[in-house]
Formats: sequence, structure tokens, C-alpha cells
Amino acid sequence: MSALSRIGVAIDSDLLDQFDRLIAKRGYSNRSEAFRDLIRDELVEKAWESPDSPVVGTVTLVYNHHVRLLNEKLTDIQHDFHRSILSTLHVHLDHDNCLEVLVVRGKSGEVRKVADALISTKGVKHGRLTLSTSGADLK
Ligand code: NI
Repeated sequence: MSALSRIGVAIDSDLLDQFDRLIAKRGYSNRSEAFRDLIRDELVEKAWESPDSPVVGTVTLVYNHHVRLLNEKLTDIQHDFHRSILSTLHVHLDHDNCLEVLVVRGKSGEVRKVADALISTKGVKHGRLTLSTSGADLK
């Protein structure tokens, strides 16, 4: 485990008040953990910028399964990128709509390609790639 460093930060009082209110709402018991989470979030985002970085994330899709050939198209894309997709969860939301969550892992550039291909498929009502990390490089 690396050593703990203590830092002092000069910050505008109003900005700090706003920050304190925000983190209290989110359930943080102290500023330190909130600061650490902000820093980790930036580091994860930064890792995603480089196309060769190993990343982990999820792709969430909502679509109407009655749209002609949509299921087949989405399945074809997933098979094309099977090395990047670890697992999928499918929920039948109602008579028409399906929610699918894919856990993706691989090089950032490749994972983005899978997400873009799925999300841009005609008939997908909403799609979102959530960037995350294996955690291996984060303390
Ligand atoms: Ni369904």
C-alpha cells in the first residue's frame, strides 16, 4: 500500500459550501473520500481517451423488439465483437420494450466501437456507454 499524503487546498468558501452540500446529499461522510472519488473518476476518464488502454464498462440499450430484424442485427454485432463482450443481461420491460446491459472489456478503442455500433443501430431508442475500470491501477 502506498503512503498516505496530506494536502492543503485553498478554495473559495462559497464553492466549498456548495461542494459540502453536494457530497452530503450523496452520502459522503467526509470530504477526503469525495475528493478521492473525483480524482479516480478523472483518472478513469483519462484512461478511456487512449485507444489502446485496457478498460471495463457497460453498454445499456433500450429498444423495441418488434422492430423488424433489430434483434438479429444486435446479435450479429455482438458476435462480431464477442471478444469484447463478457456478459449480457436482457430484461423484457413491457410488451414492446427490452433493456439490455452488456459488460464490455478490452482496449478502449475496440470497446467504443462495439458501443457505437450497437447504440447507432436503427430502432435502438436509447443507448449509453458507461466508462469504468478493472480497478487494478486505482488505489
Ligand atoms: Ni425482451
